[in-house]
Amino acid sequence: MGPRGWLCLVLPWVLCQGTSRTQPEQVHLSYPGDPTAMTVTWTTFNRAGSIVEFGPEPGEVFTTSAKGHASRFVDGGWLRRSMFIHRVTLRGLAPGQRYAYRCGSPLGWSRVYGFRALQNGTDWSPRLAVFGDMGNINPQSLPRLQRDTQQDMYDVILHVGDFAYDMDQCNARVGDAFMRKIEPVAASVPYMTCPGNHEEKYNFSNYRARFSMPGDTEGLWYSWDVGPAHIISFSTEVYFYLNYGRHLVQEQYQWLERDLQKATRPDRRRRHPWIITMGHRPMYCSNNDLDDCTEHESIVRRGLPQHLYGLEDLFYKYGVDLELWAHEHSYERLWPVYNYQVYNGSAKSPYTNPRAPVHIITGSAGCKERLDPFVPNPREWSALRIEDYGYTRLQILNRSHIWLEQVSDDQDGKVVDGIWLIKELHGPKAWH
Ligand SMILES: *[C@@H]1O[C@H](CO)[C@@H](O)[C@H](O)[C@H]1NC(C)=O
Ligand SMILES: *[C@@H]1O[C@H](CO)[C@@H](O)[C@H](O)[C@H]1NC(C)=O
Ligand SMILES: *[C@@H]1O[C@H](CO)[C@@H](O)[C@H](O)[C@H]1NC(C)=O
Ligand SMILES: *[C@@H]1O[C@H](CO)[C@@H](O)[C@H](O)[C@H]1NC(C)=O
Repeated sequence: MGPRGWLCLVLPWVLCQGTSRTQPEQVHLSYPGDPTAMTVTWTTFNRAGSIVEFGPEPGEVFTTSAKGHASRFVDGGWLRRSMFIHRVTLRGLAPGQRYAYRCGSPLGWSRVYGFRALQNGTDWSPRLAVFGDMGNINPQSLPRLQRDTQQDMYDVILHVGDFAYDMDQCNARVGDAFMRKIEPVAASVPYMTCPGNHEEKYNFSNYRARFSMPGDTEGLWYSWDVGPAHIISFSTEVYFYLNYGRHLVQEQYQWLERDLQKATRPDRRRRHPWIITMGHRPMYCSNNDLDDCTEHESIVRRGLPQHLYGLEDLFYKYGVDLELWAHEHSYERLWPVYNYQVYNGSAKSPYTNPRAPVHIITGSAGCKERLDPFVPNPREWSALRIEDYGYTRLQILNRSHIWLEQVSDDQDGKVVDGIWLIKELHGPKAWH
């Protein structure tokens, strides 16, 4: 190739770099735990300002502008690619009001997105989409989630670990591609996360840098309230990557116990009777791989050897109602279960006043590893298993009723499971 050939190759690259590196991309929202606030996070490749202009919808003008900051993130790959992650928290929002916004700086603005500020108080019915294990390749459920989001079906999205497969791949370019792909969803609805095993590289640095969750642990563990529920997100991965620090297992466990103590004080539990956890690797599952959840003494359930920091006893003790998991690329619903025993509310209505937590494993959003099959004969705690791509919808209707349904993307959006989880507040005393 002559000098001209090289120029043709190199010049567009140089020009593209020059013009696009301050353009915001990978825009996404998260909820900082206050209905008058919302956090906007995005990426640029060169340094640029961190500004969000916003105003109530419908409206022609952005009435307000908020400033935040950017932090430089250097990926651990051999290219040491660096980028700037911008975070701006919008404040003074009117709960329940829709807003339009754009983010960026005079060196480049995003397109205009809209979101609804979460409602205040406990007297409303949050609608959530829940799934894990969505990859950059084969994210089969994403188009349907985009359409649902555009139809204003969700107040919040919970992504229960495993993003992109893997964000660090190709010097973090896979992370960039994935974050661009989810933008239409994640820039419109707060996108709440927990780490999965695929985020492990470089001590979960891509995960910690790219998301902006409440609290001060860079999204490893945190909790927040939404309507009548208290939601706890945590890292099952601290149990498996002890090389990053055994202290993390203990720190998280102690934090979980303190958080549960607070959440179960009578005044708090009256306002937020539902306690819901999300963590990536389940305690139970009936898939035919050799994952932790297929072990009788799974680590997440029973803890490190000598039963240190096991989570099943902790969650049972504080009366956690619902445990959301992923990791297995399938959908599985369990009967209320504790220590392998089924604790149905009653034989006729197992999910009315259940006497142990209810587990849902929903890791089939779609990724390059495809689906995980089941063993032929599940144990008695397994209520229903579906090996389709899809995701879960969770509506926290009020202080006594939760509706859960499973959407099959393979069956064109058909709802293939649905249950009411009911707490009769004045009914027979629950176990907690
Ligand atoms: C939200 O609700 C609380 C308690 O009901 C109230 O004190 C507070 O003023 C409300 N905030 C807004 C922004 O409406
Ligand atoms: C990994 O990150 C965690 C959380 O930021 C930190 O506490 C821990 O010390 C890190 N581990 C190593 C080996 O750097
Ligand atoms: C729990 O309830 C379901 C649905 O009624 C039933 O099929 C199952 O056998 C019950 N399990 C036990 C242990 O009672
Ligand atoms: C919650 O909603 C259900 C279904 O509409 C209703 O039957 C129940 O009484 C409501 N519970 C409360 C505490 O409002």
